Amino acid sequence: MDVTIIVPTFNEAPNVRTLVGRITAALDGRVAEIVFVDDSTDDTPAVIRAVAAESALPVRLIHRAEPVGGLSGAVLEGIAASTGNWIVVMDGDLQHPPEMIPVLLASGVEQNADVVVASRHLDGGSSRGLDNQFRHLVSSGSTVLTRAMFPIKLRNVTDPMTGFFALRRDSVDLSDLRPRGFKILLEILARTNLVVVEEPFVFGKREAGSSKADLRQGLRFITQLGALRFGRLSGFAVVGAIGAIANVAIMGALQAFGVWYLAAAITAAIITIIGNFVLLERFVFHDLRDGGRSVWIRFAQSLAFNGTETAVRTTALYFIVEALPVPSLIVQALLIAVGFVVRFVYHSRIVYRPARTTAPAPSVALSVAPESEIASASASSSASASGSAEDDAASPTEA
Ligand code: GDD
Ligand code: MN
Repeated sequence: MDVTIIVPTFNEAPNVRTLVGRITAALDGRVAEIVFVDDSTDDTPAVIRAVAAESALPVRLIHRAEPVGGLSGAVLEGIAASTGNWIVVMDGDLQHPPEMIPVLLASGVEQNADVVVASRHLDGGSSRGLDNQFRHLVSSGSTVLTRAMFPIKLRNVTDPMTGFFALRRDSVDLSDLRPRGFKILLEILARTNLVVVEEPFVFGKREAGSSKADLRQGLRFITQLGALRFGRLSGFAVVGAIGAIANVAIMGALQAFGVWYLAAAITAAIITIIGNFVLLERFVFHDLRDGGRSVWIRFAQSLAFNGTETAVRTTALYFIVEALPVPSLIVQALLIAVGFVVRFVYHSRIVYRPARTTAPAPSVALSVAPESEIASASASSSASASGSAEDDAASPTEA
């Protein structure tokens, strides 16, 4: 097999027939196959089967009962199932013109590259198909941020967020990659050292169906960036930072309504502790949630640590504000920053160590730590933290 075209689909029924037709025309004369990796909840699989039955190119359908890893997971599954020497990943909604496929493949072969990125940001390319100004802003903002965070790996890549690229099959080891979020190309580029070239393309308008990009994908993207850039604990750090900002904002808002600063601080703490836990569960440890403990035990453990930290911090807030002529919000922000660092160090130095052994972590922590409540609570909640970090650390971040 010469090339495998991988098309992740989520409810794209109206686009399938045209897509297969245009891919077939574009690949005329090549040995190729199309693999749909589908997580749809509508009749897309039936449409794919019907189109496959009449298609000149072989069309395979992988319909996933469980959409593990979302879009990225689907693409990785497609790569794993591919048989081509080259792989092309593209959207199923015709925003990626199939006529570009031969251009990408030729460019990869001629320039002896491992990856050919179809870029919206090169001369001749365009992202005008994005829905609205807001999407444009998010797209260019996240591209600038991402390139700034990987100045070396992405120095030649103007569009690391594109979902349209060609890849030499044997250049990647799938076990190096984590399926998360929308940005599988970023995952590939950040974790490997591949020869990358680009070709410009015009990102078309979506004609049918609707975009699946949403706030949740945005949050996933932020934690993905953090995890790729800073390795272990970074998702944790990002969530902590969001919590810290939310904490001060809520406290400020309550005070603006006349709430006494201590009451405001306690309310803000309760809201952010719960929010933090939910974010950690969903975005940081989502792949490790079924480690045997129930969500309520994890929640209790998280609560024990954070509750203690909040009590200590709020007591300090009271004494400092009563003793010194400083604004309570400034003190709160500083204390949160200190607490954040302590928590970070605590998790990596104490909490992580017992979790490295396969023996039950909490008992180890209990026997060494005098403040057993806190130690056991966070040791076991971070047994999973180190697990996910292990994954991240196993792969290189940028030199
Ligand atoms: N299998 C599977 N599972 N496919 C999915 C999922 C999922 O959970 N979510 C989305 N898809 C498919 C869609 O059906 C479509 O074929 C493709 O992935 C892209 O999804 P869209 O919802 O159309 O995304 P977009 O147009 O907003 O985003 C595009 O632009 C981004 C850059 O701004 C995509 O090309 C992204 O890949 C790209 O990163
Ligand atoms: Mn799209």
